[in-house]
Amino acid sequence: MRSALAISVRLLAFSSTLYPVLGATYSRSQNIVGTGFYNAFNFEAISDPTHGRVNYVDQATAQSTNLTFASANTFILRADATTVISDSSSVGRNSVRIKSNNAYTTHVAVFDIVHMPQGCGTWPAVWETNEATWPSGGEVDILEGVNDQATDQVTLHTAPGCSMPASRTQTGTSLQLDCDTSVNGNSGCGVNVGQAPSFGPTFNADGGGWYAVERTSTFISVWFWSRNAADVPADVKAGSASVNTDSWGTPVANFPNTSCNIPQFFDAHNIIINLTFCGDWAGIQSIYASGGCPSTCNSYVHSNPAAFADAYFQFNAINVYT
Ligand SMILES: *[C@@H]1O[C@H](CO)[C@@H](O)[C@H](O)[C@H]1NC(C)=O
Ligand SMILES: *[C@@H]1O[C@H](CO)[C@@H](O)[C@H](O)[C@H]1NC(C)=O
Ligand SMILES: *[C@@H]1O[C@H](CO)[C@@H](O)[C@H](O)[C@H]1NC(C)=O
Repeated sequence: MRSALAISVRLLAFSSTLYPVLGATYSRSQNIVGTGFYNAFNFEAISDPTHGRVNYVDQATAQSTNLTFASANTFILRADATTVISDSSSVGRNSVRIKSNNAYTTHVAVFDIVHMPQGCGTWPAVWETNEATWPSGGEVDILEGVNDQATDQVTLHTAPGCSMPASRTQTGTSLQLDCDTSVNGNSGCGVNVGQAPSFGPTFNADGGGWYAVERTSTFISVWFWSRNAADVPADVKAGSASVNTDSWGTPVANFPNTSCNIPQFFDAHNIIINLTFCGDWAGIQSIYASGGCPSTCNSYVHSNPAAFADAYFQFNAINVYT
């Protein structure tokens, strides 16, 4: 629940702010930990819309093959790291895609992540969308990238008519400003987070960290704090029962409503966590090769199961505040 008092105090203090970036106090509505992931998420054994060399398995298969593992305080989601795939196989490497049962409009979600998938050919994502109304219902990519790149990219994808101003209150670097999925092969309006431990091997070497998203009717912001950063907000670090985004400092990515009516372009969204291989991004040969990756993406994914031993997410918790 948003605190009217906090909002009015901020309005007084920042009445000259050019773009709406006001935070608020929120109360926790979900604390997803360990086996709680099985209650909060559904497994999507679907074919990959982005054409990856993946085979998304159902919950029973994921649990019986240990592709998902839950204890009291940890949840792991990973790719198969033992099977050689035939080049003629119609499907790729076994992996997992989960979607939250709940959908959210105005909310904060804090992802406390110890480890994320790394390695050539991997394309992991923590994101929010409405699969039924995509792209008119919008997409918010919070943690996404490919092939051991060092920095995260935060991206919105929308119907035509939503774009971002060049100058924004964020620490990351704006890429394309038009969020329209039909522009530039669905590049979306991205922001390069640009902090070295924000993705892949460097993120994991530091013990991961926290990603947080705040979505209101007037902006969407994303923050990242590495595990041992000095500026992790106390409420984030503690997984508190309430959080105050006003105290979180400048986000890594900020998407104001200057030229984008947020409620018009973003429906209620589910949280989706997926790990695919190659496909429409990681598999583009020039991108794959520029990551220092050998041979071709598909053949690497098929022939080298052991290379995917580190292709896993490990979560301490996901806390959702509304
Ligand atoms: C995984 O996530 C991205 C969002 O970052 C999405 O565009 C893509 O369709 C998803 N891929 C699969 C295979 O689910
Ligand atoms: C399943 O995965 C967990 C976490 O990685 C590990 O501790 C456990 O030993 C695995 N179980 C089996 C049967 O391999
Ligand atoms: C952006 O939000 C402000 C503040 O609520 C509102 O007055 C304005 O109409 C919004 N602009 C757009 C384009 O939605």
